[in-house]
Amino acid sequence: MFPLITAVYDTRLEIVVADITALEVAAIVNAANTSLLGGGGVDGAIHRAAGPGLLEECRTLGGCDTGSAKITGGYDLKARAVIHAVGPVWHGGKANEPDLLAGCYRTALELASLHGLNSIAFPAISTGVYRFPADQAARIAVGTVASELARPSSGRQKIGHVIFCCFSPDSAAHHQAAFEELGLV
Ligand code: APR
Repeated sequence: MFPLITAVYDTRLEIVVADITALEVAAIVNAANTSLLGGGGVDGAIHRAAGPGLLEECRTLGGCDTGSAKITGGYDLKARAVIHAVGPVWHGGKANEPDLLAGCYRTALELASLHGLNSIAFPAISTGVYRFPADQAARIAVGTVASELARPSSGRQKIGHVIFCCFSPDSAAHHQAAFEELGLV
């Protein structure tokens, strides 16, 4: 599946509809679970594409808290690194889900910057099995990334390219609506 470029904003932010495992970026983000030992959805796709070395390294990480992320190599993927973010399961929105989801995006950007990874692609974390409403999740994703990129880099490696890698046109539309609502277009 070739990335279908749907929109490019401020040159650093892009929305595509694509299989994230096919993207040629420095880092792709996985929507993982707290065990970091794989699963279905994008987690399964990334582990299948990366090969067994990814799981072997994940086994050494001791899991990951919800709302945070950990980094590994990319193995057989085109990406040099995989950042495994653990999004919240949706329980109606009163269990700190929005902040936990924002934490995934923030931590992933911090890890990418720390490791000198200049381009990063995000799936729509938590909007599949974890049932986070796709429109609310897109607003959190775009808002968090835009505000993090706008912060002074304070010596951190600047990230030059962030891709919101959606798996459906509907998901891309939610992200585009979020850009418009946030006045980023
Ligand atoms: N490329 C890009 N996006 C994808 C891909 C892919 N190859 N496959 C699925 N997606 C999209 C889904 O359509 C959804 O929009 O990723 C988003 C996240 O969905 P899930 O993969 O179900 O992840 P999430 O909702 O965060 O649930 C995480 O599911 O797979 C398990 O181990 C994982 O327990 C964890 C849970």
